[in-house]
Amino acid sequence: MIQQKVRKAVIPAAGFGTRFLPATKATPKEMLPLVDKPLIQYGVEEAVAAGCTDIIIVTGRGKTTMEDHFDRAPELEAALRARGKTELLRIACSVTKLARISYVRQPEALGLGHAVLMAKELIGNEPFAVILPDDIVDGEVACLKQMVEAFDETQSTILGSEVVEGDAISLYGCLDCVPDPINPRLLDISNLVEKPKPQDAPSQNAIIGRYILTPRIFELLEQVQPGSGGEIQLTDAIKALLQFEKVYGFHYVGKRYDAGDKLGFLQATVDLAIKHKDVGPAFRDWLQKQSF
Ligand code: G1P
Repeated sequence: MIQQKVRKAVIPAAGFGTRFLPATKATPKEMLPLVDKPLIQYGVEEAVAAGCTDIIIVTGRGKTTMEDHFDRAPELEAALRARGKTELLRIACSVTKLARISYVRQPEALGLGHAVLMAKELIGNEPFAVILPDDIVDGEVACLKQMVEAFDETQSTILGSEVVEGDAISLYGCLDCVPDPINPRLLDISNLVEKPKPQDAPSQNAIIGRYILTPRIFELLEQVQPGSGGEIQLTDAIKALLQFEKVYGFHYVGKRYDAGDKLGFLQATVDLAIKHKDVGPAFRDWLQKQSF
């Protein structure tokens, strides 16, 4: 069998970001910054760290600032050059060189599965990653890189997963699974349920916004009917994929933040700010002096 490589990543970014209103009324939630980089850039950098060279961002109306962010900015560059601000110039230009980025629009918010389907033509017949930019995973080795390594072994669909507490499982796709006997980080999946009621959840293993999918997923996404929330769910198409192919969960090493939620966003901001090479030491100092 020819070893297939994961070269492309899809980043769905067409949602409304209602949990952040009014901030997201005119600004895409993916452009909200964690310290000094917008959420979407963390997603792109993680895909690049995992070896992806081509990124497809699924976007929608009112979201063109994402495209501007990854594009050249000649006026800004000229101004920085004229003022001798070489470090800022380097930072502004480095964003444009991260990867080959393409954009495809999702005309209607019909669900995550539908958003991924928009990338079908640009992906073609090869395995690919999906990164949900709301989920920020901080760790020594990028979460998607760990998953790509597992894919290189299994050549099968792999879903990022972590164990969540109690009723929180009903916010996620949920895995019915047992650990693989050889690699206990891999979970052998027998069923998936999107956002089950807590009492119906087959386990506490939640799907986190990192996926490596085989291209057969597209024909299943075309067939799957609206599910949870009346939306075309990626989880339902992956469940259908189980009839044909092996699907694994993967317990990655790293700390995840739900940056699509105000509390998670603030937690990520504080943790990343503490580690930040410029503001980190002063921020930590300031935090320690506060009496909460
Ligand atoms: C989506 C998926 C869900 C997954 C979650 C991870 O849900 O549908 O299966 O567990 O992302 O963040 P959403 O958070 O978009 O409602």
